[in-house]
Amino acid sequence: MMSKLSTFFIILFFASLTTLNVQYLRQMQEEVPNAITHPKPATNRGWFEFVARELGEDRINVALVNIDQRAMPGLVPIEGKTVEVDFRRVDEGVRWSDLYPSWINESFAECPEVPMPAFDDYKELDVVVARIPSNGCVEDGVRDVFRLQVNLAVANLLVRCGRAQNGVSTRPIYAVFIGSSEPMWEIFRCDDLVLQDSDSWIYKPQLGRIRQILLMPVGSCQLNNDVVSGEGLRAQTTDDETMKQPREAYSTILHSSEAYVCGAIALAQSIIQSNTTKDLVLLADDHVSPESINGLRSAGWKIKRIQRIRNPHSKKRAYNEWNYSKLRLWELAEYDKVMFIDSDFIVTRSLDEFFIHPGVSAKGDNKNRFNSGLMVLEPSMCTFRTLMERRWSVRSYNGGDQGFLNEMFPWWHRLPNKINHLTYFPSADDHKNRDHTVVPNDISGIHYLGMKPWWCYRDYDCNWDMPDKKIFASDSANNIWWDVYDKMPENLRRHCSLTPKMHTTNRNHRNKARDANLLDGHWKIKIRDPRLKNAL
Ligand SMILES: *[C@@H]1O[C@H](CO)[C@@H](O)[C@H](O)[C@H]1NC(C)=O
Ligand SMILES: *[C@@H]1O[C@H](CO)[C@@H](O)[C@H](O)[C@H]1NC(C)=O
Ligand SMILES: *[C@@H]1O[C@H](CO)[C@@H](O)[C@H](O)[C@H]1NC(C)=O
Repeated sequence: MMSKLSTFFIILFFASLTTLNVQYLRQMQEEVPNAITHPKPATNRGWFEFVARELGEDRINVALVNIDQRAMPGLVPIEGKTVEVDFRRVDEGVRWSDLYPSWINESFAECPEVPMPAFDDYKELDVVVARIPSNGCVEDGVRDVFRLQVNLAVANLLVRCGRAQNGVSTRPIYAVFIGSSEPMWEIFRCDDLVLQDSDSWIYKPQLGRIRQILLMPVGSCQLNNDVVSGEGLRAQTTDDETMKQPREAYSTILHSSEAYVCGAIALAQSIIQSNTTKDLVLLADDHVSPESINGLRSAGWKIKRIQRIRNPHSKKRAYNEWNYSKLRLWELAEYDKVMFIDSDFIVTRSLDEFFIHPGVSAKGDNKNRFNSGLMVLEPSMCTFRTLMERRWSVRSYNGGDQGFLNEMFPWWHRLPNKINHLTYFPSADDHKNRDHTVVPNDISGIHYLGMKPWWCYRDYDCNWDMPDKKIFASDSANNIWWDVYDKMPENLRRHCSLTPKMHTTNRNHRNKARDANLLDGHWKIKIRDPRLKNAL
């Protein structure tokens, strides 16, 4: 992120030399100090004065991480104790791709070691001061293993070595980052930033939250298998008031059309049928009619009206033009955690236990990326503002929200595959044996790709009729969706009617499948779906 911003400004710099005067550039630099200022000698003791004032005393104990005390005279306060924190640097051979493999064996994978300090050697700390290694020149500098190690060392010292450790004291502990590189915002939230000047960031972190983050593996290289005993995890993180009664909600978004209204209704019903204790919040823009809103409300959603957000890198009227509307989820600041779920999704088993994961947690996609179709996230207004600002300069690898969010949250946590089971069956050309399209029993959620069940008939999955969509076809997944539909009250089913247009489209595909004599033979099935009456 940093490197992209720097590159952007370097280009801007050269492009501007001929047309703009230097004075103007100076102003620009002042507006975005973090992006382009160079490391100054860190003799500035502003942070010390701030922390001493906040704690109301001059004797404060300081731990230095990745800072050589002798090289920085004047940095360290005279009162109190100062220690340099010692730890073995992570092995050069460990790459980001080792922490973020594209696939893992969920029961056996293990992350490489990222060494931490011997915490017993550091006690009674008031402030941890660190310098984040800058990898600003390297493309993708945010995916740097040593940078992660320093951030994790600081986070661990904060929760293990502070004066406030006995749980009685309410004395806060501070994290200070000096130099030109900012810390990882996945760990040190902008909400906890209490002071920032040209070369230091001072955080007063919410320790319960950091403790929860540190229970996660160092990357998505393994699952947090303890999560099955979610209560144990929760017990460890209940020192903090807000962690005791976390405000949590499932959420989905409807924008730009009504095509997914029925999907969102079925999703809500499936979540409710899983006996959730969480809220359900739906974000809808004004393309969703008042009548649909009523249906969605009776299905269980609390409704929030939003303005959709344009994807600045998309072509006009492209399929992904309004994908950045998902960023609105971070505005749900009345919740500590939100589990976003796409509307073409059915929950088959309770997902409540996965709210223990910090944001962003999701299922892996290809390369080192996560799939943004289901994700646990932590709403925050300042995170939202940052996302909105950076959407102009940060490129998305796939032109959609998923690519953008992966650049913004490179340090994400892996959820098990079974919670977001995609209806994707690459060997579906094997017509004789359709067993591989059977959805396994132990999954917790199904994500319907291709033609959506409610656009088709309850008799079968229309993806079978379309050669380019056949890889998404599954009779068992289709049945699971219609089982939820069957349990819905009549007033909700109304929002899932088959329109004449849908029927015509389906019939055309059926006819083509018949003419091509597709071997799976779904086109031969007689349609008994009662919804057909409306469409004729
Ligand atoms: C995971 O690893 C274990 C032990 O090596 C093996 O028994 C199991 O089959 C593996 N699972 C998968 C899905 O490859
Ligand atoms: C939800 O609760 C009901 C009543 O206690 C129970 O019968 C049902 O099996 C539960 N459903 C799930 C998915 O756990
Ligand atoms: C963008 O959003 C549309 C509709 O919400 C969705 O079908 C599509 O997969 C998304 N695309 C990307 C690249 O995220």
